Amino acid sequence: MSTDQKQYLWWQDGIIYQVYPRSFQDSNGDGIGDLQGIIQRLPYLQQLGIKAIWISPIYPSPMADFGYDISDYKGIWPTFGTMADFDQLLQQVHAAGMRLILDLVPNHSSDEHPWFIESRSSRDNPKRDWYIWKDAKPDGSPPNNWLSVFGGSAWEWDEKTKQYYYHAFLVKQPDLNWRNPEVEKAILDIMRFWLDKGVDGFRVDAMWHLVKDAQWRDNPRNPEYNDTMATYNQLLPVYSTDQPEMHGIVAAMRQVLDGYSERLMIAEIYLPIHRLVAYYGVNNSEAHLPFNFLLISLPWDARQIAVAIDEYEGALPTDAWPNWVIGNHDQPRITSRVGREQALVAAILLLTLRGTPTLYYGDEIGMIDVPIPPEEVQDPQGLNMPGKNLSRDPERTPMLWDNSKNAGFTRSQPWLRLDRAWHRDNAAMQENDFYSPFALYRRLIQWRQREPSLKTGSYRPVYSDHQMIAYIREAPGHTAFLIVLNLTHRPCYFTPATISFKGVIVVDILPELEQITVENSIDLSGDEGLIVRLDEWKPK
Ligand code: NOJ
Repeated sequence: MSTDQKQYLWWQDGIIYQVYPRSFQDSNGDGIGDLQGIIQRLPYLQQLGIKAIWISPIYPSPMADFGYDISDYKGIWPTFGTMADFDQLLQQVHAAGMRLILDLVPNHSSDEHPWFIESRSSRDNPKRDWYIWKDAKPDGSPPNNWLSVFGGSAWEWDEKTKQYYYHAFLVKQPDLNWRNPEVEKAILDIMRFWLDKGVDGFRVDAMWHLVKDAQWRDNPRNPEYNDTMATYNQLLPVYSTDQPEMHGIVAAMRQVLDGYSERLMIAEIYLPIHRLVAYYGVNNSEAHLPFNFLLISLPWDARQIAVAIDEYEGALPTDAWPNWVIGNHDQPRITSRVGREQALVAAILLLTLRGTPTLYYGDEIGMIDVPIPPEEVQDPQGLNMPGKNLSRDPERTPMLWDNSKNAGFTRSQPWLRLDRAWHRDNAAMQENDFYSPFALYRRLIQWRQREPSLKTGSYRPVYSDHQMIAYIREAPGHTAFLIVLNLTHRPCYFTPATISFKGVIVVDILPELEQITVENSIDLSGDEGLIVRLDEWKPK
């Protein structure tokens, strides 16, 4: 047999782990996580087996959107630490054989950024055109009907200079004007600043928002809207996002990265598959990994997910590298979306599909969305649209480390309340429990990282129905693996008509079944998922 000699880059065969810095580990007792806290927890991440850490924004910020409103792109927010702390973190991440990815927020700055302070100071200020300023309509209303993602109009009236400015997110997050070449130059310069320090790449925030329609046309109504949705969804953002000019900008960012060795660009993009894959660019000249949120956005339904995996695989341009995500700081946690049992099935799916997985801190110990009483809500999305259960605080609660005070997160009052069950379910306890979510994650990661077929092999769909999804991962010259997942609570029976097989279960949500030999059929309990090492298999 020939062996697969292809070399893969660190972001292709490694796993990415998202740290939400406010909630990971507090080192100085102010109740808010910080960079020294992340340093303390590097051994945990190393033993989990992840390759890269992506940290949500750590820059100076008024924190109106918890760091996604930046007032200095080249500094560190003092509550998180100093630039010396950052340099130490970067050095220690690298010393541990891992990589560090920062969040880049090019769509908007804080309204407290010096650029915007200048821009709003007068109509003839040289920075005026760095942001998006428009006259009112004759009746004084905003220039068009565009809505803010966080509720209300996306236009804010400025009394002093008598124009509106555009903000896709908060009033305190004015959008930069990417049609002005000086803006592009400034952001590319910021990228170089961090790359020169040695950071390994960026997760680019809100990438599909950067350029807006040149004619500022009204967005059409969304016929699917209902009032459980965010008010933003009343319209389809066809003119305010995903404009053709985006691709030149993403390519320019990519060229900056390509000036360095092996740096990564992940792009945050919520678009349907065929629009999403365009952000790989012609000949892969744009984002390395346009984030694939299919497993977040689809209902937890075996048929729909199986079809979506095939659609995504089928839509990927030649040599484009896939990726998968099941959680982040903007979305309900997987455990709360699909339940504790199915969250384990989701873990197997995430870690056995073809492409780079991104884990969200705490998902590996099955953290849940913590209910936050109305008077404690801090997230602007929740505060601006009350009554719709849209606050993102529940998925941003402190990491549950151990059963010391405040789950080992802080020695004082945590900035956001903890899951009440922390003393009986936390990372330290799960590390010693073979039946825990953490133990399953670790086994999955070990198998994935050890076996070329699971790490970088091809994806071959085998079977799916209303209960299950089954597929084979296979790399030339290496043992192939069969993955069978039951996405329901009821038992199901895998008896594929298209293949015959014989092998050994190597990972199972029910660990007592590991090491059992299976041949041509497998009976699955409700909520069971497993990986079979295929000693023999062939299409029928
Ligand atoms: C996406 C980020 O993930 C989210 O947290 C933030 O509120 C918006 N972009 C605005 O920057």
